[in-house]
Amino acid sequence: MDTTALQKIADQLIQARRIVVFTGAGMSAESGIATFRDKPDSLWAKFNTREMASPAGWREDKYRVWAWYEGRRGAVLETQPHAGHIAVAQLADTLRSVHGHAVQVDVVTQNVDNLHERAGSSSVIHLHGSLFAPRCAACARPGEFAPGLPDQTLTHLDPPECQHCGGYIRPGVVWFGESMPEKEFRMAEDLVDTCNAMLVIGTSGVVFPAAELPINAHQLGKFVAEINPDRSEVSGYTTVECRAKAAQGLPQLLDMLKNR
Ligand code: OAD
Repeated sequence: MDTTALQKIADQLIQARRIVVFTGAGMSAESGIATFRDKPDSLWAKFNTREMASPAGWREDKYRVWAWYEGRRGAVLETQPHAGHIAVAQLADTLRSVHGHAVQVDVVTQNVDNLHERAGSSSVIHLHGSLFAPRCAACARPGEFAPGLPDQTLTHLDPPECQHCGGYIRPGVVWFGESMPEKEFRMAEDLVDTCNAMLVIGTSGVVFPAAELPINAHQLGKFVAEINPDRSEVSGYTTVECRAKAAQGLPQLLDMLKNR
């Protein structure tokens, strides 16, 4: 664990009034949720992005696509947020109790799980949608899941029918070839503009426009710290690089702040 880097991060956070926590799949890795690209068993090493994550793949075989996302939702429901998610959720209160000022912490995540919310984070912006927000592929209204826990063993499953128009319900995630939700991205850009510090946790930084956010923060002269066991495409845009896993580095960072 790189405690010197963590100390440097703590030094900056203690002075910050507005903090953005930008997360990717590595944030949820220690909850047992697969990442996309950093390991041989990561999702995009085992599954084809065109088949599982594009409008064309959905048109080709929506039963396969729906079963896959339902399996992923089932895996998330079976797991729990880890100590790192909880540390992020406690960051604002911890800083307030240390120096007495209100501190705003906003999570901007590329993750489609709900682990930040379940850990207690109150401001979470989802740039890539959510496994828990299905919508109609035809009329775009919010959809409902079939009752009960998803069966993770199925390779094909009928998507539910839209209650309003009878269309197919699709996963509420952003696919390759689709735009990021405009409102969420604009909000994230504004948060970066006004923050004093940004933590970048568990992202490879290869997917744009999400990866623009830490780069913009760096170019605006903000303090940007990365917590990741490996270097990423955004490492060069950070002020401090901390080589640590999220479930270990973040609780230790919180302890350092509490002991100021
Ligand atoms: P990736 O799978 O591309 O990258 C995971 C990152 O997490 C890597 O940099 C790892 O080194 C790091 N990592 C692994 N274990 C970690 C741990 N325990 N603690 C901290 N970091 C760890 O995931 P993303 O960068 O999130 O998009 O991928 C970006 C987007 O690509 C995803 O949102 C998804 C995917 O296609 C959509 O689905 C639209």
